This record gives sequence, structure tokens and C-alpha cells, in this order.
Amino acid sequence: VCASKIHIFVRFLFFLDNPLKISVIFAVRSIPEHYLYQRIMKQLTTKEMQGLFHVYMEKLAYMRDPKGLYEPIEYVLAIGGKRIRPLLLLLAYNLYKEDVEAVFSQAAALETYHNFTLLHDDLMDKADKRRGKPTVHKRWNENTAILSGDAMIILAYQFLMKDCPTQYVKPVMEVFSQTALEVCEGQQWDMEFEHRNDVSVDEYIEMIRLKTSVLLAGSLKIGAILGGASEEDARKLYDFGIQIGLAFQLQDDYLDVYGDPKVFGKNIGGDILCNKKTFMLITAFEQADAGTRTELMHWITAGDYMPEQKIAAVTAIYNKEKIGELCQKKIEDYYGQGMRLLEQVQVPQENKRHLLDFVVGLMHRNL
Ligand code: IPE
Ligand code: IPE
Ligand code: MG
Ligand code: MG
Ligand code: MG
Repeated sequence: VCASKIHIFVRFLFFLDNPLKISVIFAVRSIPEHYLYQRIMKQLTTKEMQGLFHVYMEKLAYMRDPKGLYEPIEYVLAIGGKRIRPLLLLLAYNLYKEDVEAVFSQAAALETYHNFTLLHDDLMDKADKRRGKPTVHKRWNENTAILSGDAMIILAYQFLMKDCPTQYVKPVMEVFSQTALEVCEGQQWDMEFEHRNDVSVDEYIEMIRLKTSVLLAGSLKIGAILGGASEEDARKLYDFGIQIGLAFQLQDDYLDVYGDPKVFGKNIGGDILCNKKTFMLITAFEQADAGTRTELMHWITAGDYMPEQKIAAVTAIYNKEKIGELCQKKIEDYYGQGMRLLEQVQVPQENKRHLLDFVVGLMHRNL
């Protein structure tokens, strides 16, 4: 299609006189690059991309003394995880450019940063297990989780800068720094909400937008920027990321109650034990009759209890109030809104198929 268009264009030029020819050529040159990209991109499948990126991550060279600082980093990065954020970056980049390997370092930066948040998050959430293995503060100790986590943020910045084309350094840094700061804000709200019993659904949504969505959105935007996307496309991809990020965290909260621990890789009921103000807990409070609400409040304020008993009792209330179904409905809504935003991105629909498939995969995740 593209070749025949060029052919017609050249023939058309042939019939013009010279001054007109020159003005037509200049006019075409002034068309922004992204409008000229309206063609089918050579794309890797997500599986191929995952495979190549996995090899790249394994070869990342950061190990040196003291081993006590770097071994925990190797430990957590080697367990893997779904690697959603780097893939979103690569898939967004691949909407505009073909050489995805050129931005592997930036993708690695996002995965390293994400893993840093997990080290500190597990400490804050008193979580013993992640990806089916002991968390870093359990395997080593709390100071190790703090310091290796700190080192991972610095490594993330180094990876982000590595081979980044100069014209993109500033915008990429701006998105990344703003995102990283917002994640801290979200985590702070998450902590503060543990001690409040009047958190609204809107406040919860804003909290998960900050702690989770902005990183998915930022990954897509950084991929778009590096790919040379228009500002509008980069913004649309960011907004798409926010919606799927909200769905993603709602799913995480759902799986924290209803997931299979062997697949999910984390202990079930952790959020219930921490009194996390999830959509499920907030909605259970809203829906329950006075008696059930008193029972729920008893478990939230109880000082002395058997963890399994609290998890079982709160889960039973969720079951009775059909909170799981309400949560699933909300997840579908946010994924739907995300898909509609993706449709508006100005690249041929055909180029979006891998990104679309990836999101459909996320919708059905159980880990
Ligand atoms: C866990 O993220 C933290 C949340 C934002 C829910 P992931 O579910 O992407 O964790 P991994 O990297 O695949 O283990
Ligand atoms: C994740 O929230 C947010 C960040 C790590 C920034 P959670 O605390 O729900 O994540 P998991 O369940 O521990 O992975
Ligand atoms: Mg956690
Ligand atoms: Mg947390
Ligand atoms: Mg969770």
C-alpha cells in the first residue's frame, strides 16, 4: 500500500513544473513524522519481545562489592515477575518504531524501579512472600530491603540515561521523576488509609491511580516519547495506562482475597490483615446492614486475633455481600474505558494488535 502511494506521488510530481514541485516537496517535509507513519509496522510478537528482554535483563551488569547490597537485587530481578511495565514501554515504542532493542535499557530501568517499590512495599505491608519466594526483608533483613531498594532507584536512573537519544533525555526524565514521586504519594495515602475508617471509593481510586496506575501510564508514555509519537498520542497512551492501571490494582486487591496462593505467589489475606482500604472493604461497609457492619468493625479494630480467623471472617462478609462480583464489574469497566482510549491513538489499528492482546491477557490474569 505504502509503495503504491509513493509511486502515485512521484508520478504526480512529474507533471508539475519545477517551482511547484519544490513547494510540494517542502509541504510534505513539514508534515509531522507521525503522520507519515501511517503504515503497518514490523512488530515483534509479545512473546518474542518478552524472550529478548528476558535475556537482556539477565545480562545487566551491576554486580560488584559489597555483595550484600547487590545480591538481593539480583535475587528479586531473577525471580522475574510479569514484567508488565517494560513490556508496555516496548509495545508503545513499537507502535512508532521497529528497533525495540534500542530502548531495552529504558525498559530495564522501569522494571528495576518497579522492583525497588516492591522491596519497600513488602516491608511496609509486612509481606513475607512474593512471586512464591521469601521477600527480601525476610530472606535477609529490613535494612537490606531499604538499602538495596535505594540502590535500585539509582540503577534505574542509570539505565534510563544509558543510550537515551539526547533530545529525549529531558522529557523522559521529567515523566519518570514525576511518576516516581507520585508512586510515593500513593504509597503514603495507602499507609494513612490503614488507620482511617471513613475512606471513600473516590479517595481509594485516587490512591491506586498514584501508587499503581501512573507507573503503567508512565511506561507507555516513555515508550511513546522514545518512539517519536505526537504529544497527543503520548497523552492518550498515558490516559489509557491510567485506566488499565486502575483495573490492574483492583484485580490485585481481588486476588489478594480470592487468588490461588500457589499461582498468585503472595500470601492471601494480607490486605485484610493490614486493614487496607480496598474497594472491597469500603464497599462491604457501604452495603452491609447494621449487624454486619458492626461485625466488620469488630475485626478492623480487634487488637488480638488469629490471622486466619480474621481473613476467614472478612472474606465471609465479602461473599455474603457479593463484593467479588461488584469488584469484577468495576475491573471490566476500567478495562473498557482503557480500550476506548487506545482506539483513539493515531496509528493504524493493525499496529495496535499486540498491545491490545497484551491487555486482554492482563484482563484474564490470575497472578
Ligand atoms: C505488583 O505488581 C504490585 C502492584 C502494583 C499490584 P505486579 O503484579 O506487576 O508484580 P510482578 O512484577 O508481576 O511480580
Ligand atoms: C502495590 O500495592 C503498589 C506498589 C508496590 C507501589 P500492593 O501493596 O497491593 O502490591 P502487592 O500486592 O504487595 O504486590
Ligand atoms: Mg504490598
Ligand atoms: Mg502496598
Ligand atoms: Mg496487593
